[in-house]
Amino acid sequence: MTEIFKGRLAILGLGYIGLPTAVAIATRGIDVTGVDINPAIVAAICRGEVPFVEPDLAVGVSGAVAMGRLVATSEVPEADAFIIAVPTPFNEDHTADLSYVKAAAEQIAPRLKPGNIVVLESTSPPGTTEMVSSWIAAVRPDLKMPRDGENGADIYVAHCPERVLPGRIMIEIITNDRVVGGLTPLCAEKAASIYRLFAQGEILLTDAASAELAKLVENAYRDVNIAFANELSLISEALHIDVWEVIRLANRHPRVSILSPGPGVGGHCIPVDPWFIVSAAPGLAKLIRTAREVNDRRPHHVAEQVVMKAKRFHAPTIACLGLTFKANVDDVRESPAIDVVGLIARALPDVEVLAVDPYVEKMPRQLAEYGNIRLEQAYDAVERADIVVLLVEHDPFRAIRHTRLGGKIVYDTRGVWR
Ligand SMILES: NC(=O)c1ccc[n+]([C@@H]2O[C@H](COP(=O)([O-])OP(=O)(O)OC[C@H]3O[C@@H](n4cnc5c(N)ncnc54)[C@H](O)[C@@H]3O)[C@@H](O)[C@H]2O)c1
Repeated sequence: MTEIFKGRLAILGLGYIGLPTAVAIATRGIDVTGVDINPAIVAAICRGEVPFVEPDLAVGVSGAVAMGRLVATSEVPEADAFIIAVPTPFNEDHTADLSYVKAAAEQIAPRLKPGNIVVLESTSPPGTTEMVSSWIAAVRPDLKMPRDGENGADIYVAHCPERVLPGRIMIEIITNDRVVGGLTPLCAEKAASIYRLFAQGEILLTDAASAELAKLVENAYRDVNIAFANELSLISEALHIDVWEVIRLANRHPRVSILSPGPGVGGHCIPVDPWFIVSAAPGLAKLIRTAREVNDRRPHHVAEQVVMKAKRFHAPTIACLGLTFKANVDDVRESPAIDVVGLIARALPDVEVLAVDPYVEKMPRQLAEYGNIRLEQAYDAVERADIVVLLVEHDPFRAIRHTRLGGKIVYDTRGVWR
C-alpha cells in the first residue's frame, strides 16, 4: 500500500521545523493551516513573511500564502491530519519538558474525528507518542485510540522525527530519508502517506518508540564524536601539540574520520537530545552523559584560556567573533559562543569585550546584563582588539586577511585561520 495523503492538514508550531514542513506540504497542493501560540509569528506568516532566517524559506512562505494554500492562525482548525512541531526543551534536571507537546495534544483533541491522523514531529523521549495518545484519550474518551496488537482505532498516531540541518532545511526536508514510527503498523502507514507528498528520500516504517530513540541516538552519536574531538583539543593543548595537525594526519587513516573541536555544542538538538537518553536509562548511558559533560565544559575552558591571555595586558580589548550556535545562520539558541562571551565579560568586568556577528543585530538577552560587552562590526572590532577570539566560522570571518591579525593574540577555536 502506498497511499498518498489527501485532505486538510494543520501544523502546530511554526518554527524552524513546522514552517518549512507547512511550506513543503502546501506547495504539493494541500491546504495547510499553520497554528502558533505566538501572535507575532502568526501575523508575520499572514503577511507572507518569515520571522527567522532560513535560506529559500521566505520565497516558499510568500508563495504558499499568496496561493491561499497556507494560512496561519492561533486556533486549531478541523483537519484530516495534525502535525505537532512544538518545542521539547529540558528541565533543570535534564528530563524532557513535554508541557508544549501535552498542550498541543489537548488543543487538537476537541477537533478530532474518526479517521484523523496525528503525527508528533517534536524530538521526544521514548514513550512520548504513546503519551500523546493518552492525553488525547483523556479529553476524548469517545474515540478509540490505537493500541499495539489491536485493530480498528479511530485515530492514527505516529512519530516522525525531523533531522534537517539549519541553513539547509528546505533542501534536506525534501531529500532526507524519513523514519515514521506508528503506535500500530497502520498508524505508521497512515502517517507515511503525508510524507510521501514531498519526501524524495526513503520512508522507513517502524514502531513509535524505535523512531523516538533513533532520533535521539543520531544526535547522541554526533555529541559523542564532537566530545572526542574536544577532548583531543584539551590533550593537545596540554602537550603543546597542534590539534588540527593531529586530526588532519589521523584522518588520513582510511577508517578514521575525527570531527573538528570547537567552543562547545549549541542549537536546539545536540545539547538537548542526548539528555533524553540519559534520563531514560540513567545507569546505562555513561558514555553519552560524559560526552555531554565534556561538551558543556568547553565554553568554560575557552573563556579561561582567553582570560589567561588577557592577563598579559594592562587594559586589553577583546574581540569575540561569532555569537550564533553555528556558521552562517542567525540562530543563537543554546549557543556556546554566547556562553564564552558572557563568561569572559564576567571574569574581566573592566575589560571591553567586542561581540561581532553579521547575523545578530540586537544584543542577545543573555548578554544584556553585562555593561562591558558591545556589539561591533567585524572590521572595527578586529582593528581595535588586542585579542581576537574566533568562535563561529561565518564566511565573512573566514575571509579576514591574516595581515589584519598581525601583532594580535589570536585564539581560533574553529581552526579556520591556520
Ligand atoms: N530546529 C531544528 O533544527 C530541529 C531539528 C530537528 C528537530 N527539531 C525538533 O523540532 C521541534 C520544534 O523545534 P523548532 O526548532 O521548530 O522550535 P521553534 O522554537 O523554532 O518553534 C516552535 C514553535 O512552536 C510554537 N508553539 C509552542 N507551543 C505551541 C502550541 N501549543 N500550539 C502551537 N504552537 C506552539 C512556538 O511559539 C514556536 O513558534 C523540537 O522538538 C525540536 O527539538 C528541531
